Amino acid sequence: MANILVTGGAGYIGSHTCVELLNAGHDVVVLDNLSNSSVESLNRVQELTHKSLTFVEGDIRDGKTLDQLFGLYQIDAVIHFAGLKAVGESQQIPLTYFDHNIAGSISLVQAMQRAEVFKLVFSSSATVYDEANSSPLNESMPTGMPSNNYGYTKLIVEQLLEKTSQADVRWSIALLRYFNPVGAHKSGRIGEDPQGIPNNLMPYVTQVAVGRRDKLSIYGNDYDTVDGTGVRDYIHVVDLANAHLCALNNRLEQHGCRAWNIGTGNGSSVLEVKDAFEKVNAVAVAFEFAPRREGDVATSFADNARAVAELGWKPQYQLEDMLADSWNWQKQNPIGYKS
Ligand code: NAD
Ligand code: UFG
Repeated sequence: MANILVTGGAGYIGSHTCVELLNAGHDVVVLDNLSNSSVESLNRVQELTHKSLTFVEGDIRDGKTLDQLFGLYQIDAVIHFAGLKAVGESQQIPLTYFDHNIAGSISLVQAMQRAEVFKLVFSSSATVYDEANSSPLNESMPTGMPSNNYGYTKLIVEQLLEKTSQADVRWSIALLRYFNPVGAHKSGRIGEDPQGIPNNLMPYVTQVAVGRRDKLSIYGNDYDTVDGTGVRDYIHVVDLANAHLCALNNRLEQHGCRAWNIGTGNGSSVLEVKDAFEKVNAVAVAFEFAPRREGDVATSFADNARAVAELGWKPQYQLEDMLADSWNWQKQNPIGYKS
């Protein structure tokens, strides 16, 4: 069992990963500045697992906080979620994104080096793949210049971690390229709680269903897909959380830097997701077709064979489970953690 630092652990994916880490018997220290989350998620993580974790409120860009943290706790490995993730916002305030996501990651890696902690799992994204690749996307395909500044920060951090590991063989780094995380813990006690108008499909759908928004705008119905709407690879957040545990085990044994796709390998269109959500949950989702959203691709889904073969990871949940669990969370927490 290991002592794991989870940066951004109060957030959506981080909180679900904390549950799985605690359940597996690991000790957990969370570092989060709460800029996009609240401590309530961590209270609920502890309530669900009947275990306690250590919470440090602080910023990954603050080297002193990191040195103190690494000095106080015997950290074995780091799972690095902390960062900003709103694609549209990243176009308006690029420097803020570069600061949190790129400078923040450098600050963390420097502090890890000072503390001689060399095991790291990094939250990357399928957005790093070159748009010219066709799905299923595999890890040998070339990366490209992402169409937005958020995606750019993920690509840069992947590259700087790769170069860092090449320069010092003690590093052992996993780059997890997430596809589209959705769903929530079965209990409905933790889930996705976006601030303001959701950017992503699933929280928008659940907020329409619960009456917080009028209708879903479906961005484009003239793509070259099964029904003209965009196709994505939705992955249950609990499966995604477990991928971090598998990657951690792999990295505790192996050196170097390696990327893995974390998706189910199945693509679903926006209309398929909306229709299945209505059917599984017996609730209506009003919608309209709207123009395509800038920067969107028609289709993106994973070839997950490398993760299955090398990490011993396999997704357990189907789309129906994801939609039921997202709705269960939203119904129980109509205004998120504030309710
Ligand atoms: P989230 O916003 O719920 O969680 C991120 C957490 O990091 C928040 O709790 C926030 O308060 C914290 N944070 C932000 N900047 C910080 C800083 N400078 N110092 C300390 N804490 C900071 O987001 P999430 O959906 O859980 O995403 C987690 C990670 O996964 C992010 O790096 C994100 O870019 C990446 N990712 C997410 C998706 C997705 O669709 N959700 C897809 C691909 C990759
Ligand atoms: N969509 C709508 N209406 C909405 C929101 C989304 O029709 O209100 C559509 C999009 O056009 C797209 C699909 O639903 O076809 C999924 O969109 P999301 O915004 O949920 O997800 P993206 O695939 O655009 O982006 C996600 C993450 C990024 C990550 C990327 C990697 O948000 O962080 O996957 O592929 F980089």
